[in-house]
Amino acid sequence: MDELATEELVEITVTVNGTVHRERVSPRMHAADFLRQRLGLTGTHIGCEQGVCGMCTVLLDGEAVKGCLLLAPQLDGRELRTVESLAQGGELAPLQQAFKDCGGLQCGFCTPGFLMTATALRESGRRLDREQIREELSGVLCRCTGYDGILTAVDRVLNGEQR
Ligand code: FES
Ligand code: FES
Repeated sequence: MDELATEELVEITVTVNGTVHRERVSPRMHAADFLRQRLGLTGTHIGCEQGVCGMCTVLLDGEAVKGCLLLAPQLDGRELRTVESLAQGGELAPLQQAFKDCGGLQCGFCTPGFLMTATALRESGRRLDREQIREELSGVLCRCTGYDGILTAVDRVLNGEQR
Protein backbone atom coordinates (compact mmCIF):
# COMPACT_ATOMS: atom_id res chain seq x y z
CA MET A 1 0.00 0.00 0.00
CA ASP A 2 1.21 3.52 -0.77
CA GLU A 3 2.59 4.88 2.52
CA LEU A 4 2.07 8.52 1.49
CA ALA A 5 -1.55 7.88 0.58
CA THR A 6 -2.25 6.68 4.11
CA GLU A 7 -0.21 9.36 5.87
CA GLU A 8 -2.25 11.41 8.30
CA LEU A 9 -2.11 15.09 7.48
CA VAL A 10 -1.74 17.76 10.16
CA GLU A 11 -3.77 20.95 10.16
CA ILE A 12 -1.78 24.09 10.88
CA THR A 13 -2.58 27.78 11.12
CA VAL A 14 0.37 30.03 10.45
CA THR A 15 0.72 33.73 9.71
CA VAL A 16 3.13 34.31 6.86
CA ASN A 17 4.07 37.86 5.92
CA GLY A 18 0.92 39.12 7.63
CA THR A 19 -1.50 36.68 6.00
CA VAL A 20 -3.11 33.85 7.96
CA HIS A 21 -2.95 30.46 6.24
CA ARG A 22 -4.79 27.32 7.30
CA GLU A 23 -3.32 24.27 5.60
CA ARG A 24 -3.19 20.50 5.93
CA VAL A 25 0.38 19.31 5.65
CA SER A 26 2.40 16.14 5.81
CA PRO A 27 4.06 15.78 9.22
CA ARG A 28 7.30 15.24 7.28
CA MET A 29 7.17 18.38 5.17
CA HIS A 30 9.97 20.89 5.79
CA ALA A 31 8.95 24.47 6.53
CA ALA A 32 11.04 25.67 3.57
CA ASP A 33 9.20 23.29 1.24
CA PHE A 34 5.89 24.42 2.73
CA LEU A 35 6.73 28.04 1.91
CA ARG A 36 7.92 27.29 -1.60
CA GLN A 37 5.57 24.55 -2.71
CA ARG A 38 2.38 25.28 -0.81
CA LEU A 39 2.47 29.09 -0.55
CA GLY A 40 4.51 29.83 -3.68
CA LEU A 41 7.03 31.91 -1.72
CA THR A 42 10.07 30.85 -3.70
CA GLY A 43 12.29 33.62 -2.33
CA THR A 44 13.25 31.20 0.44
CA HIS A 45 16.00 29.18 -1.20
CA ILE A 46 17.09 25.66 -0.41
CA GLY A 47 20.70 24.53 -0.63
CA CYS A 48 22.06 21.85 1.67
CA GLU A 49 18.86 20.87 3.51
CA GLN A 50 21.11 20.11 6.49
CA GLY A 51 21.23 23.41 8.35
CA VAL A 52 24.67 24.33 7.00
CA CYS A 53 24.31 26.87 4.17
CA GLY A 54 21.69 29.24 5.64
CA MET A 55 20.01 29.81 2.26
CA CYS A 56 16.63 28.93 3.76
CA THR A 57 16.75 31.43 6.65
CA VAL A 58 13.40 32.96 7.61
CA LEU A 59 12.13 34.81 10.68
CA LEU A 60 10.02 32.76 13.06
CA ASP A 61 8.41 35.01 15.67
CA GLY A 62 11.17 37.49 14.88
CA GLU A 63 14.06 35.06 15.25
CA ALA A 64 16.23 33.95 12.34
CA VAL A 65 15.85 30.20 11.84
CA LYS A 66 16.73 27.73 9.12
CA GLY A 67 13.61 26.60 7.33
CA CYS A 68 15.09 23.25 6.33
CA LEU A 69 15.50 22.26 9.98
CA LEU A 70 11.86 22.94 10.85
CA LEU A 71 8.89 20.82 9.98
CA ALA A 72 5.73 22.48 8.73
CA PRO A 73 3.66 21.30 11.75
CA GLN A 74 6.07 23.24 13.98
CA LEU A 75 4.82 26.44 12.35
CA ASP A 76 1.37 26.03 13.86
CA GLY A 77 0.33 29.16 15.73
CA ARG A 78 3.54 30.99 14.81
CA GLU A 79 4.34 34.10 12.82
CA LEU A 80 6.72 33.76 9.91
CA ARG A 81 8.40 36.31 7.68
CA THR A 82 10.20 35.62 4.43
CA VAL A 83 12.25 37.76 2.08
CA GLU A 84 9.05 38.61 0.21
CA SER A 85 7.99 40.72 3.21
CA LEU A 86 10.86 43.19 2.88
CA ALA A 87 10.07 45.35 -0.14
CA GLN A 88 6.98 47.51 0.32
CA GLY A 89 4.97 49.07 -2.48
CA GLY A 90 7.66 48.27 -5.03
CA GLU A 91 10.33 50.00 -2.90
CA LEU A 92 13.34 48.04 -1.77
CA ALA A 93 13.89 47.81 1.97
CA PRO A 94 17.03 49.61 3.23
CA LEU A 95 18.94 46.32 3.52
CA GLN A 96 18.00 45.31 -0.01
CA GLN A 97 19.04 48.71 -1.34
CA ALA A 98 22.33 48.50 0.54
CA PHE A 99 23.07 45.04 -0.93
CA LYS A 100 22.45 46.51 -4.36
CA ASP A 101 24.54 49.62 -3.73
CA CYS A 102 27.45 47.78 -2.11
CA GLY A 103 27.74 44.87 -4.52
CA GLY A 104 26.46 42.49 -1.86
CA LEU A 105 25.20 39.94 -4.33
CA GLN A 106 26.13 38.25 -7.55
CA CYS A 107 24.00 35.20 -8.39
CA GLY A 108 21.68 36.09 -5.51
CA PHE A 109 21.07 32.55 -4.35
CA CYS A 110 22.30 33.26 -0.83
CA THR A 111 20.83 36.75 -0.66
CA PRO A 112 17.46 35.95 0.99
CA GLY A 113 19.29 34.12 3.77
CA PHE A 114 21.59 37.08 4.40
CA LEU A 115 18.75 39.59 4.20
CA MET A 116 16.60 37.75 6.73
CA THR A 117 19.54 37.16 9.09
CA ALA A 118 20.44 40.84 8.84
CA THR A 119 16.80 41.86 9.35
CA ALA A 120 16.76 39.97 12.65
CA LEU A 121 20.00 41.70 13.67
CA ARG A 122 18.60 45.09 12.73
CA GLU A 123 15.40 44.55 14.67
CA SER A 124 17.34 43.36 17.72
CA GLY A 125 18.69 46.90 18.10
CA ARG A 126 22.11 45.52 19.02
CA ARG A 127 25.13 47.65 18.20
CA LEU A 128 27.63 45.47 16.38
CA ASP A 129 30.98 46.29 14.85
CA ARG A 130 32.04 44.87 11.50
CA GLU A 131 33.72 41.81 12.99
CA GLN A 132 30.70 41.05 15.14
CA ILE A 133 28.47 41.39 12.08
CA ARG A 134 30.76 38.96 10.23
CA GLU A 135 30.36 36.48 13.08
CA GLU A 136 26.58 36.90 13.16
CA LEU A 137 26.32 36.32 9.41
CA SER A 138 28.57 33.28 9.46
CA GLY A 139 25.59 30.93 9.37
CA VAL A 140 24.94 31.86 5.75
CA LEU A 141 27.33 30.81 3.01
CA CYS A 142 28.02 32.65 -0.24
CA ARG A 143 29.96 31.05 -3.07
CA CYS A 144 30.23 34.20 -5.21
CA THR A 145 30.95 37.48 -3.49
CA GLY A 146 33.84 37.02 -1.09
CA TYR A 147 31.53 38.52 1.59
CA ASP A 148 33.01 42.02 1.57
CA GLY A 149 30.05 43.71 -0.12
CA ILE A 150 27.63 41.81 2.08
CA LEU A 151 29.42 42.94 5.24
CA THR A 152 29.61 46.52 4.03
CA ALA A 153 25.90 46.55 3.20
CA VAL A 154 24.82 45.20 6.58
CA ASP A 155 27.32 47.41 8.43
CA ARG A 156 25.99 50.45 6.58
CA VAL A 157 22.38 49.76 7.53
CA LEU A 158 23.03 48.66 11.11
CA ASN A 159 25.45 51.42 11.92
CA GLY A 160 24.40 54.12 9.49
CA GLU A 161 27.86 54.28 8.05
CA GLN A 162 28.39 55.97 4.73
CA ARG A 163 31.36 54.27 3.14
S1 FES B 1 19.05 24.63 2.98
FE1 FES B 1 18.70 25.12 5.04
S2 FES B 1 20.65 25.54 5.85
FE2 FES B 1 21.04 24.88 3.80
S1 FES C 1 25.71 35.75 -4.46
FE1 FES C 1 25.88 33.77 -5.31
S2 FES C 1 25.90 32.45 -3.59
FE2 FES C 1 25.99 34.42 -2.77
